[in-house]
Amino acid sequence: MSEELWATVDTYINGVVIGRDAALEAAAASAAAAKLPPISVTPAYGKLLHLIAKVRGASRLLEIGTLAGYSTIWLARAVPPDGRVITIESNPTHAGIARANIERAGLAARVDIRVGAALDVLPQLAADKQAPFDFTFIDADRSRLADYFDWAVRLSHSGSVIIVDNVVRKGAIVDAASDNADVKGVRRFNEQLKSDTRVDATIIQTVSAKGYDGFAMALVR
Ligand code: SAH
Ligand code: DHB
Ligand code: MG
Repeated sequence: MSEELWATVDTYINGVVIGRDAALEAAAASAAAAKLPPISVTPAYGKLLHLIAKVRGASRLLEIGTLAGYSTIWLARAVPPDGRVITIESNPTHAGIARANIERAGLAARVDIRVGAALDVLPQLAADKQAPFDFTFIDADRSRLADYFDWAVRLSHSGSVIIVDNVVRKGAIVDAASDNADVKGVRRFNEQLKSDTRVDATIIQTVSAKGYDGFAMALVR
């Protein structure tokens, strides 16, 4: 079993459950043309986020880590016309590319891109009374993951869903001696999650065109 097979199966899955989608394909192409890192969610994962947000009936969504807006488009399509996605991105170049992609997808009215470091913007959202959010997707740097998750819970209500990307890292997550900043950040998050009585959570391992990783899902009590 190889990464090549996982990618082939992902392509097959896309043909079954997604098919052609001009706005998403344009967003992916623009990210590649701008030489952004190829770390957007896969189509099937984007659709999972979309479906979970819909099941939740979410109308106020928060995202941490926009990149080219690929996952943002999936999330914005899940909210009603009067709903809103606030997405936080620290890199102004990424934010500019995302803005163009979201506009092309016809979703600009539902998406608010906040350019800044997550730990600067999150307290502003609290102060601006933008919360509570029904659904939060955390997909930025892992070094401060525990803090992002804590903010996400504080900006939630009972029944809100929080999804955290990239918490398995090819299995590196079991290495307690790792000095990798991402692995340390995820392990610190997991330690916090273990005793976090505010949420019920699980962690799922995944293989895909992006390799071996996983996500956490938390339901706020
Ligand atoms: N969610 C996107 C991918 C996000 S990649 C998708 O699936 O399409 C991670 C993004 O987080 C990058 O664009 C990076 O610039 C941004 N980022 C990294 N550290 C950040 C921080 N501290 N605050 C806000 N954004 C950050
Ligand atoms: C990386 C980041 C991601 O958000 C992702 O989904 C996959 C990989 C990375 O930084 O390597
Ligand atoms: Mg990710």
